[in-house]
Amino acid sequence: MPQDKDLDQHQPSAAGGQRISEARRSFLKQSSVLTAFALTPGIAVKAADLKLEEKIADAFEKVNVTLDINGKKQKLSVEPRTTLLDLLREQLHLTGTKKGCDYGQCGACTVHVDGQRVNSCLTLAVMQDGKKITTIEGLANGEKLHPMQEAFIKHDGFQCGYCTPGQIMSAVACIKEGHAGSDDEIREYMSGNICRCGAYPNIVNAIKEVKNGGQKV
Ligand code: FES
Ligand code: FES
Repeated sequence: MPQDKDLDQHQPSAAGGQRISEARRSFLKQSSVLTAFALTPGIAVKAADLKLEEKIADAFEKVNVTLDINGKKQKLSVEPRTTLLDLLREQLHLTGTKKGCDYGQCGACTVHVDGQRVNSCLTLAVMQDGKKITTIEGLANGEKLHPMQEAFIKHDGFQCGYCTPGQIMSAVACIKEGHAGSDDEIREYMSGNICRCGAYPNIVNAIKEVKNGGQKV
């Protein structure tokens, strides 16, 4: 019957079937390599063009970077996929910077990069080569606390303290950026920093005091 014939034409022969499943296997293999590439940092993608597998291995080798961390220049060897947060906490043991969501949504990991606040969980360490990083450990001047640290203590700006380093780094940036003009503005520009304990009113008071006190931040 014509329909059967039609059907037959679409049935692969045994040899044809084998060819198709080999092609499928090789497609899947290649596409998983390509997916891995799509999820790989730009620097790694740049390094790998046509000889995929060989170059993927090279791309994941360590990269040398020089960072100024809290006023101290450091030459470091890091994997291209290491975030600045993991570099600080795990490689350099600067654990004042906290890991909350690890997803750019809580602000616990806020540090300054060349004076700008940055979520270190969203930033690759290799992208910071030559830059100046300040963490909560670098804010005080020796034994003397930074005015924002003093103000947080004075105004009870923290309860459990987990979000506090990120809050303080953001608070300093908030004033430097000129975004501490009113309670509403402070709240808006601190909204990327989540505090589960709800210490917000006290945090706002601390920021206002430092801003209005005209102290150098
Ligand atoms: S840990 Fe980076 S924003 Fe939450
Ligand atoms: S003080 Fe506890 S989460 Fe902010």
